[in-house]
Amino acid sequence: RCCVRERGSGLDSDAEEGLYRRSRAMWHPVAYADDVTEAPIAVRLLDEPLAIVRLEGEAVAFKDLCIHRGTALSLGTVENGELQCAYHGWRFDSSGACVRIPSRPEGSIPRKARVEKYACEEAAGLVWVCLEPPALFPLPEYRAWGDPDYRTVRIPLYDWNSSAARRVENFIDFSHFPFVHAGVLGNPDKPEIPDHPVTRLDHTLSFQLGVEEVPNALKGDDASAAPIQRQPSTYTISMPSSVELDQPLDDDVAGQAPEGGLREPGPQQADDQDGETGDDQGLLHSGPAHADAIGSSPTVRAGVIADPVLA
Ligand code: FES
Repeated sequence: RCCVRERGSGLDSDAEEGLYRRSRAMWHPVAYADDVTEAPIAVRLLDEPLAIVRLEGEAVAFKDLCIHRGTALSLGTVENGELQCAYHGWRFDSSGACVRIPSRPEGSIPRKARVEKYACEEAAGLVWVCLEPPALFPLPEYRAWGDPDYRTVRIPLYDWNSSAARRVENFIDFSHFPFVHAGVLGNPDKPEIPDHPVTRLDHTLSFQLGVEEVPNALKGDDASAAPIQRQPSTYTISMPSSVELDQPLDDDVAGQAPEGGLREPGPQQADDQDGETGDDQGLLHSGPAHADAIGSSPTVRAGVIADPVLA
């Protein structure tokens, strides 16, 4: 968002700002589902402050602003399945309607005494919010989610000083591997990227690609000094900024499913310059005994989310 306001950046400012506006009509992950409890949490989605809370089992997203005197609702508490504002104790039910004003318990409650509520769904272990439904695209589908042959490994959150779109671009950009990740990913002596078709299906783009890497002790394949041609991984990008990585790995590596194993460089190393701060959420699915459509090897699947919510 910052960069589109810069003069001489070469970006199509109108298109960028249009995409930013239309992102309000798309689903964005705002939290891990199991982090959403009766203790409200504050998040920002597309510059909109939100209070995310669980009321009677349902994840709910409110504008983080009490209709009474503007206190952040994320400072509140849940009482009897209702969100109670921290300032004067007004209570709101899961629809956003005020149902109790403690200072006037017998008085009628004005109809306009309600907080703004946003569309909110739980899927793939995440809570998703759409600020202006109906959503232009459905929630991303993670085929392995819920499959009992898979394990779920929660990857730590980490910050990115970039826009979400730049984060997605980085995640699917193989050409930086031999330079930024020399010795871990890619081969500095073979930076060429082979041709690979990109398939568009509804709201997704996908491609398969496997590059040559140098042997790496972290991956348990440094017995020989010879470069290793990796099996193709499948990347599926869902609008607006979610990526599923379906990556065949060897038995022993898949069995370890290391936490943070798919981490990229932090902000200090990132090749992004647009001045925003973002987080990344990762859920790694690993299935040591599970073969998939692109090979007979066991497979690790990771749904890695980069999104403006955390900007
Ligand atoms: Fe929320 Fe008064 S500001 S109850």
